[in-house]
Amino acid sequence: MELKIFETYELLSEAAAKEILFVVKKKPTAVICLAGGDTPLRTYQILVRQAKEYHIDFSKVHFVGLDEWIGIPSSNSGSCQFFINKNIIAPLQIDANHLHLFNAMSNDLEAECRKMDGVISKLGGIDLMLVGIGMNGHVGFNEPGISFRLKSHVVELDQITTQVGQKYFKTEIELKKGITLGMQNLQEAKEVILLASGDKKSSIVKQMMEEEINEYLPASLIRAHANSKVFLDGASAHELQTNDC
Ligand code: PGA
Repeated sequence: MELKIFETYELLSEAAAKEILFVVKKKPTAVICLAGGDTPLRTYQILVRQAKEYHIDFSKVHFVGLDEWIGIPSSNSGSCQFFINKNIIAPLQIDANHLHLFNAMSNDLEAECRKMDGVISKLGGIDLMLVGIGMNGHVGFNEPGISFRLKSHVVELDQITTQVGQKYFKTEIELKKGITLGMQNLQEAKEVILLASGDKKSSIVKQMMEEEINEYLPASLIRAHANSKVFLDGASAHELQTNDC
């Protein structure tokens, strides 16, 4: 694992966008999994701008969804699908056949999980996975206590996730379950980048980086990945023992 600490959120976002562009330039057929959430938003804005500016061809790239709130339609602006569509898929004009997201409205969610794992394996695995870290240390919807051996699965959401998750929605909403790639998918991804930003993440970032790797702190598994990077801004890194920018 490589740790990089940037002075600002903007610099972190520029670096993360550069990593994605690098992967796509190197492998135009790359399979990329991109998280929703507040943290990667600026990364995606920079990515879209630079992809256009430098004429980077995204037409052969496949995008895989990380997670979704069960029972929330993609038309809801708080859904992960809405976010990914708005910030990546529409601006880069990605073909619908290259987009593989969980259908969280399906009445057979187990089939959705099998379908997702099947698609990933048929495409030859995930080349780059870009994730965030939740206030409780989750990655995607891999909540504290989840087995590191699981691939795509349905999950009962942690209370912190259902509370914090309200920020994505215009009105208060009942969030109970999620569907998500598992930590086994993360372990099998060829490269993983985790982003964290802001003072509110500093305590969980410290735990992720300094506590023993364990299933009650899902994000800690990133440290065991052979090709992973953790990008932090100064605010999220300030509790670390070593936090030189
Ligand atoms: P955030 O979400 O980027 O909105 O903080 C991170 C997460 O829950 O994984």
